[in-house]
Amino acid sequence: MRAVVTGGTGFVGSNIVKVFGDRHGVPVVVPTNSFVPTDDSYEHAPLDMTDAAAVMSFMEAHTPSVIVHSAILNDFSLISVDRRAGWAGYVGATRNVVQAANAVGAKVILVSTDWVFDGTQAGADESTPPNPVNIYGVLKLASELVVTEGAANGAVARIAGVNGVHWARHHTPRSQDPGFGYFASWIVEALRAGKPFRVWEADDINMVATTSLASESAEMMWRIADRDLTGIFHCVGGESVTRRELALRTAAAFDLDPSLLEFGPPTIDVMPGAVVPYDTTLDASATAAALDYSLPSLAEQLRKFRTQIEEGVLA
Ligand SMILES: NC(=O)c1ccc[n+]([C@@H]2O[C@H](COP(=O)([O-])OP(=O)(O)OC[C@H]3O[C@@H](n4cnc5c(N)ncnc54)[C@H](OP(=O)(O)O)[C@@H]3O)[C@@H](O)[C@H]2O)c1
Repeated sequence: MRAVVTGGTGFVGSNIVKVFGDRHGVPVVVPTNSFVPTDDSYEHAPLDMTDAAAVMSFMEAHTPSVIVHSAILNDFSLISVDRRAGWAGYVGATRNVVQAANAVGAKVILVSTDWVFDGTQAGADESTPPNPVNIYGVLKLASELVVTEGAANGAVARIAGVNGVHWARHHTPRSQDPGFGYFASWIVEALRAGKPFRVWEADDINMVATTSLASESAEMMWRIADRDLTGIFHCVGGESVTRRELALRTAAAFDLDPSLLEFGPPTIDVMPGAVVPYDTTLDASATAAALDYSLPSLAEQLRKFRTQIEEGVLA
């Protein structure tokens, strides 16, 4: 196997690079955008994913057998106001990847999201028809369709409530938002510093989700590649929790003081004008069976996350 991991300098992508490269010994090439990595354990070269000819030349030069496509234009405000930029950064980039993958005979695995569902579809499984309620969900669903309809050998790996270490940039990349990504990192960072942390609770944000540890999701993607599977997969953990439960269980797993946690509605308008899905619980039993994988409990995810933070290695 030879892999190209787009977005490999991002949060989720850096976990895919680590699992494919460090754990499974797969040679990995990462196209870079604005951030240039200092890690020389993998090859990297500049590439704008929205440039079709450049993506084709890149894949022809590196001849991957699998392309894991995690790069996105990760700016909700921008994609809300500039629909062309949003379309190019998600759907256009995915089309470029699929066309290049088909040309070089590579498999494509698109990293997608539970936000393709509307927040009332709790327990959505791999075959549940999606119903996105905001521009991010629409762009991700359109990207999924590019892969499922256009790739000669394509898979969609939906992830959700993603926690974990960012291996490429050693910082927590953003503050609390209405989703579940990075949630455990915010709790750990604040409580370790002895600062109070207000866990948002409100009817108009993502209140229930099926958590994932980024490296576990990456392991599931590696299995999709290794077994050469196609279709839609839910690469998540085996438990769904509320924000409150996740906060309390994170504090316990890291031996931190839960009395520093406060609960209440956001004090700012968190996603002006956007609808946010409330309950994005996923059922991943078909994926677990296809990958012969035991979905990790939240306790297991938090234990591995702690090891990753404290020892700097994949657990
Ligand atoms: N994080 C979550 O909680 C979560 C949950 C569900 C699904 N996902 C999915 O996981 C994937 C990765 O998300 P993430 O949170 O890891 O995002 P991220 O940390 O913001 O990473 C995005 C990556 O894409 C790269 N990129 C952006 N525009 C590019 C371009 N035009 N050409 C080449 N590379 C470009 C970025 O490079 P630069 O930084 O250098 O621009 C960065 O490496 C996405 O597909 C997302 O939908 C994430």
